[in-house]
Amino acid sequence: MNPSDANVLVTGGAGLVGSHLAASLLDRGATVHVADDLSKGTRDRVPDGAEFVEADLTDPGDVARAVTDDLDIVFHFAAYTDTNYDDDRALFEDNTGMTYNVLERIREVGVDRFAFTSSSTVYGEAPRPTPEDYAPMEPISVYGSAKLADEALISTFAHSYGVQSWVFRFANIVGPHQRGNVIPDFIEKLDADPAALEILGDGRQEKSYMHVSECVDAIQHVVETADDDLNTYNLGTRTTTSVTRIADIVSEELGVDPEYQYTGGDRGWTGDVPKMRLSIEKLSALGWEPSIESDEAVRRSARELIDEIVD
Ligand SMILES: NC(=O)c1ccc[n+]([C@@H]2O[C@H](COP(=O)([O-])OP(=O)(O)OC[C@H]3O[C@@H](n4cnc5c(N)ncnc54)[C@H](O)[C@@H]3O)[C@@H](O)[C@H]2O)c1
Repeated sequence: MNPSDANVLVTGGAGLVGSHLAASLLDRGATVHVADDLSKGTRDRVPDGAEFVEADLTDPGDVARAVTDDLDIVFHFAAYTDTNYDDDRALFEDNTGMTYNVLERIREVGVDRFAFTSSSTVYGEAPRPTPEDYAPMEPISVYGSAKLADEALISTFAHSYGVQSWVFRFANIVGPHQRGNVIPDFIEKLDADPAALEILGDGRQEKSYMHVSECVDAIQHVVETADDDLNTYNLGTRTTTSVTRIADIVSEELGVDPEYQYTGGDRGWTGDVPKMRLSIEKLSALGWEPSIESDEAVRRSARELIDEIVD
């Protein structure tokens, strides 16, 4: 499907990935609607030219306002995204509930294309690089469990109700305006105290980081190119960056030389997968390659965030 001349809805379009996708789709000529409850995203991040609907997608009434029968595709990116959220029940019920609400509504009004942002966390602590057909899927966080449940629902709608679907299992996506992740966290801490930096875990956690500009490019390539009923793709880079390396990059970009203070343990918090790298061979076979590897994605994002955060 070519989204360039389509009528599209991006849920979560006031957040990091959704706002970048909405902007990219607008540039390519699509008609773009954004639905977001602004719980984490902000109104100023919705690009000019997109029609904005303030909607809480856990509420079926709000979903009915946002999802109309003239849409060609829904990109469902809205979710509570704090992976170490302290209310597990709310995280599970709200994230799976809003996915169910959107799927039920698109079936009701006859929209037959759906794209979804899943996560590397569905694999749990799996061998790396992890391919899409890796089994058994054993997530270790409620966030990852909810994403896996979402994927199961999408499979059902794709195979039984004719909703062609694209599922993207993301590595760590980084970019401007992001908050509550390791890069802005380090910048904020070093801005307050350039002499010392507390690092959660032992610093050896090692994950693959992808810049948001690359992520939205890959999403559009896959939606245009993959044409099965259900198309599941890992999105990431081929390399990884350790937490200590992120601290080094952020320190270099800020021009400071702090003493690192590790909190200990091999992971940042309960449910954190300490080492993650996704196989992107399936994506590569579809003709898409990252042009920025993991360290460079972290550095670019650090520069963008320093401009925003530091006076
Ligand atoms: N950024 C990453 O590293 C990453 C990794 C894996 C998966 N994902 C997934 O990608 C998607 C986008 O992530 P992001 O990084 O842009 O996160 P984000 O938090 O910046 O964006 C999510 C958006 O959803 C909105 N939202 C939350 N609850 C809502 C509700 N009930 N109704 C309507 N809107 C609601 C928020 O206000 C926010 O604007 C999410 O589904 C996330 O789980 C992200």
